[in-house]
Amino acid sequence: MSLLDEAKQVRAHAHAPYSGFKVGAAIRGESGAVFVGVNVENAAYPEGTCAEAGAIAAMVAAGETRIAEIAVVGDAPKPVTPCGGCRQKIAEFAPMGVPVRMANMDGDEIVMTIEELLPLAFAKAQMEG
Ligand code: THU
Repeated sequence: MSLLDEAKQVRAHAHAPYSGFKVGAAIRGESGAVFVGVNVENAAYPEGTCAEAGAIAAMVAAGETRIAEIAVVGDAPKPVTPCGGCRQKIAEFAPMGVPVRMANMDGDEIVMTIEELLPLAFAKAQMEG
């Protein structure tokens, strides 16, 4: 299954009773293993988490720290793009050139690198010297 199809499939499990906007995300780690996540909203609104954050958490819990490819999908007129916070979260684990696949349920897709989505990202190296 393609990474985008993995994201579409897991999206069905999203918990989005407040926004009604279900999002699925899938990461291929450097090992080739796939990790998925969904947005999980909360009655205390700021406590909700994005689909990308869920997929990253699953990857890290499995012992992987490098993203090879990531896909995110929602049901929207245009492909769903990661929020600013998720761009920073992805940049923590995605080497330069990693493709970020952004899609909707109609088959529209945009692919950009993480450095295109988050130029001049704040990174650990900046605190080292
Ligand atoms: N959301 C994600 O999970 N990922 C994105 O890339 C965009 C937004 C979620 C957060 C919230 O649960 C809902 O979509 C509406 O903002």
